[in-house]
Amino acid sequence: MQEIKFYSGENIPLELHKVRIVQKLNLVPIERRLEALYEGGFNTFRLSTKDVFLDMLTDSGTNAMSDNQLAAMMQADDAYAGSQSFYRLEKAVQDVLGKKYLLPVHQGRAAENIIALAYVKKGSLVPMNYHFTTAMAHITDKGGQIVELLYPEAYVINSDHPFKGNMNIEKLEEVIKRHGAANIPFIRMEASTNLIGGQPFSVQNLRDVRTLADKYGIRIVLDCSLLGENAYLVLLREEEFKGSDMKTVIHAMTSLADLCYFSARKISSSRGGGMCTDRPEIIKELEALVPLYEGFTTYGGISIREIEAMAVGLYETLDETMICQSPSFIKYLVDSLDAKGVPMIKPAGVLGAHVDAMQVCAHIPQTEYPAGALAAALFLISGIRGMERGSISNQRDEEGNETYADMELLRLAVPRRVFTLSQIKYVEDRMNWLYDNRELIGGLKFVYEPPVLRFFMGGLAPTSDWPQKLMAKFKADFGESL
Ligand code: F0G
Repeated sequence: MQEIKFYSGENIPLELHKVRIVQKLNLVPIERRLEALYEGGFNTFRLSTKDVFLDMLTDSGTNAMSDNQLAAMMQADDAYAGSQSFYRLEKAVQDVLGKKYLLPVHQGRAAENIIALAYVKKGSLVPMNYHFTTAMAHITDKGGQIVELLYPEAYVINSDHPFKGNMNIEKLEEVIKRHGAANIPFIRMEASTNLIGGQPFSVQNLRDVRTLADKYGIRIVLDCSLLGENAYLVLLREEEFKGSDMKTVIHAMTSLADLCYFSARKISSSRGGGMCTDRPEIIKELEALVPLYEGFTTYGGISIREIEAMAVGLYETLDETMICQSPSFIKYLVDSLDAKGVPMIKPAGVLGAHVDAMQVCAHIPQTEYPAGALAAALFLISGIRGMERGSISNQRDEEGNETYADMELLRLAVPRRVFTLSQIKYVEDRMNWLYDNRELIGGLKFVYEPPVLRFFMGGLAPTSDWPQKLMAKFKADFGESL
């Protein structure tokens, strides 16, 4: 994509769209934000949007939709079976993802459930570059286990490695030899490894995984939820693809996988999800499960209107002026905070800016969830809702012991084309203030812990009156300002 330079020399991301529909936001006083935290068990998932100013919880289902997506929703062909909307989506999947057969499902984790049901059994091991919460939960739910195989570089917070999401090829071969290919139903590759800071893998790395998969006769399952952004970073960072285009990179990646699945809430800025492959025997293995768990195979539990929005959204993923917007805003935020000394995951990845809570809250032990505490503290002093991506998001081991995350991150999601630059500057400003006052942040403890995916509905409480003290300092510094 062509660079747009400013005469001033300033290096800022420029919005390549205009805003035609707006939604009013609320910035409620800090006293109300404190009450909301107690009501929501210090868990940002449990906040009500009436108390949230900038919603940076996730990009899932929150990317802005285009005029063409909304228009397409109006021509939905509502039919239980054989809807024309499905055929338009199937064509989009063929054109954009390069796969012939499509099975729609209601969202990404529904695909994870069906793939695990079809292939995972007790004793199965699924190697992956890194886990995603729901992908792992569905595999362990069926009696399988996962193993994460990244290079050491992936865990370096302040790095300039372009592809921290790369699968460790040497370790992958060791694992296959040790566990036996027969016990490995598939290798899972996740585009833009979500939980380690939205870090991409290279096309060359996927080719190397393919070589091993062929050598040992194992399938590759590619999680394409964040594939568009991974492809965009390949265009910027992988020598072989400089000057290439989105479609070429996406096809280079999907052609190396036996089975692709995606959360359409992410990849196509809509709702829904899907699984696609060129291999008829894989479709046969998965097809019977779709009507049982999702809906008939031409709607898969998704509203037909959303299927139309998905089809258009998939094509729009190929548009560099759309796809560049979130990563360039993220880079701006990461670089500005980094310049002020706030420890950030670097290089900037996709989905959001990631703050290293382990360093910001070095005084809070991992047993008191530093990333959860930082998320709560930032909400309190700004109304910005981020997401904990640390030990609260981890699941307990088979014996029920707490497992601590490799990284304690506060994720500040930047959904596609939602925020303006002054809003991003507000995030930067409040995060800088919080960093300067970080000693006032204290720990959290669980008061209610659900048995699975505890981070969604879990309830926590502060270990002291630190929220009141933080609020007092905010009021001393900002006076009557919201
Ligand atoms: N895979 C990846 C890489 C994801 O990021 C997600 C969801 C899923 C699968 C599951 O898809 O939500 O449609 O069921 N990520 C969201 C997030 C929830 O906030 O990062 P889903």
